[in-house]
Amino acid sequence: MNGPRIALVTGANQGLGRALVEGLAARMNPDDLVLLTGRDRRRVTDAASGTAHLPGTRARVEGHVLDVTDTDSVAHLAEDLRARHGGVDIVISNAVARLLPGESQAARADEFIDVSNSATHAVLRSFGPVLRPRGRLIVVASSLGTLGHLDPRLHHLFDGASLDQVEYAVESWRSAVHHGTAEEAGWPRWLNVPSKVAQVAAVRAVAVERREHDLADGTLIASVCPGMVDTATSRPWFSDHSGARPPAEAAAAVLDLVLADHVDPALYGELVRFGKVLPWHDGTPPVEQDRILTP
Ligand SMILES: NC(=O)c1ccc[n+]([C@@H]2O[C@H](COP(=O)([O-])OP(=O)(O)OC[C@H]3O[C@@H](n4cnc5c(N)ncnc54)[C@H](OP(=O)(O)O)[C@@H]3O)[C@@H](O)[C@H]2O)c1
Repeated sequence: MNGPRIALVTGANQGLGRALVEGLAARMNPDDLVLLTGRDRRRVTDAASGTAHLPGTRARVEGHVLDVTDTDSVAHLAEDLRARHGGVDIVISNAVARLLPGESQAARADEFIDVSNSATHAVLRSFGPVLRPRGRLIVVASSLGTLGHLDPRLHHLFDGASLDQVEYAVESWRSAVHHGTAEEAGWPRWLNVPSKVAQVAAVRAVAVERREHDLADGTLIASVCPGMVDTATSRPWFSDHSGARPPAEAAAAVLDLVLADHVDPALYGELVRFGKVLPWHDGTPPVEQDRILTP
């Protein structure tokens, strides 16, 4: 990556996303630009200004309002970066809708799926084509994103699926939740499991198509598991936080992958945790009483 680089993180005004921006701003160069994006103008402005004034910050940091459920805005921002900068070098799709333990998962399904899944599809479709050589397109998923976490009756929907097929599977799941038929079809009540499997499947679908070309020019597309991170979203789900890492620490491990000079072909298109691949077929369906936000 010669010349100034452009990085962008979604859902970045707090939690892991903010720590990713802070880490990028500290580790990138003074003429590089890090776009801190989020859905609320005030929260975005405050977080961008706070990051810009951190002692370790080297790169320029700008806030940009981006509600990831507005797929036209996602496409517009990608096109704008292509027009103004010739593309983008680092994109991290990180946003998630916060669910609390007492809430009905079904009642929050639309928002959750829109923020995690429809938005991931939009980011892959819009930013994939404007990624510059040696670029990085990363989706923050979770260790729950391996296929084995789903009931075997659902595996065919995601295994070897194209992005259109993943999108179809997600919409089938959404519809089953609306109709109250999701559990009998094998979908877990906990939204985070199918959502994360679908994110990893979407990345795999795009990676299969681009692999040869991307590896030739040093580009990486992957999903990542950040491990258990102590954030406002994860905190209500754990009685014991001792295994959760501060966001800055979790972000640093993700950024080691993002900022590595060379792409390891073994990691390309895969779900990566702490530099290692989590095999796609691993995992077992969670029992409902499990605290399944576990990374
Ligand atoms: N925390 C963990 O232990 C853990 C473990 C495994 C994976 N992860 C993954 O890590 C990522 C970050 O999680 P986190 O714990 O850092 O969550 P978090 O602290 O709740 O942050 C989520 C961010 O997403 C934003 N967001 C929500 N809806 C949005 C929308 N429509 N458009 C744009 N941004 C939106 C939120 O903005 P507002 O401030 O406006 O709400 C917030 O900035 C997620 O993908 C999560 O699944 C986390």
